[in-house]
Amino acid sequence: MHKSGSPDFVFWVHNMSQRIVYLNGQYLPIEQAQVSVLDRGFLFGDGVYEVIPAYGGHLLRLPQHLQRLQNSLDAIQLVNPLSKDEWIEILQTLLTKNQGQDQSVYLQVTRGVAEQRDHSFPDAIKPTVFVMANLLPAQSKDELAKGVAAITVDDIRWRACHIKAIALLANTLLRQQATAAGAAEAILIRDGLVTEGAASNVFIVKDHVLLTPPVGPTLLTGVTRDLILEQAKLNGIDCAERDIAEGELTQADEIWLSSSTREILPVISLNGDAVGNGQSGPIWNRMIDIFQQYKDVLRTGAE
Ligand code: PDD
Repeated sequence: MHKSGSPDFVFWVHNMSQRIVYLNGQYLPIEQAQVSVLDRGFLFGDGVYEVIPAYGGHLLRLPQHLQRLQNSLDAIQLVNPLSKDEWIEILQTLLTKNQGQDQSVYLQVTRGVAEQRDHSFPDAIKPTVFVMANLLPAQSKDELAKGVAAITVDDIRWRACHIKAIALLANTLLRQQATAAGAAEAILIRDGLVTEGAASNVFIVKDHVLLTPPVGPTLLTGVTRDLILEQAKLNGIDCAERDIAEGELTQADEIWLSSSTREILPVISLNGDAVGNGQSGPIWNRMIDIFQQYKDVLRTGAE
C-alpha cells in the first residue's frame, strides 16, 4: 500500500491519469507523441478523420465509421494504411489504456511527411496515423432537455463537405461566430437551404414529421444522423430526408442537432427567437429515450 503524499503515491496517481495516444505504430504518453513540421496534415490540412463514441467500452456503429473513413480516404486518393482488424485493435487498446466510462475516439490519417512543401502529392510517402481517446461527459436527460441556442450563418465551405477532412478552418470560423453570439452551434445555409451545423447535422420537426436534408456533397453523412433516421422508422416516428428551406427553420416545431459527441441536442432558440414554444419538444423527448435505450443495449455489448 502506498501512503498518500509519498513520492510513490504521487507517481502512481500521475501514471493512472496519463493520457496514452497512438502514433504511427506506437502507444505513447500524449506529451511524447510528435509529428514532423513537414507533415502534410500540418502544412496543408491534407488528411481525413473520424470521431467514434464508445459507451462502456463499446464503440457505437463501428462498421459505419470505418466505412466512412474508407470513403473519405478514397475521396482524397489515400490508401488506407491499416486493415479493419488493425483499426479495431488500436481503438480497443486506447479505450482500455485511457480512463472513462464513456469516451470518444478521434482518429486521423494524413498523407504524411514529404521532404519539400509541394501542393502536388509526393510519390510513395507513408501516411501519418494518430489516434486519441477523449472523455465523453455523461449528460442527464434533464440537462440535455434545457436545450441550446443556435444562429444561422452563410455556409462558406467548399463543395466536398461529404469528406470528413481535417481542413476545418471554415467550420471553426463558423462555430466561433456562434460562440461569440452566445450560441452552441451555427446552422449553415447554402442557396437558401439548410445544409448542417458547423460540426453537427440538423433535424427539424414540423407537424409531427421529422425532417433532415438529404445526403450529398453539401453535408457530412453523420453516423448519428443515420442512427436517428433508422430508429425513428423502427419506432413509428414519421420522417423524411428532403431539402429544408431557411424559412422552414423559423416555422419549425422543433430543431435538433446531432453528432457523435453531442448526441441529440434540442435547439430552443434560433437567432434569439424561441423555437416552437421555446422548450425541447415531444418528438425529441421520445427520440432521446430511444437513443438512451440504444446506448444501454450497446453497453451490454449487444448492439
Ligand atoms: N463532427 N457534420 C459535421 C460538419 C461534423 O463535423 C459532424 C461531426 C457531423 C455529425 O457526424 P457524426 O454524427 O458522425 O458525428 C456532421 C465531429 C463530432 C467532430 O468534428 O468532432
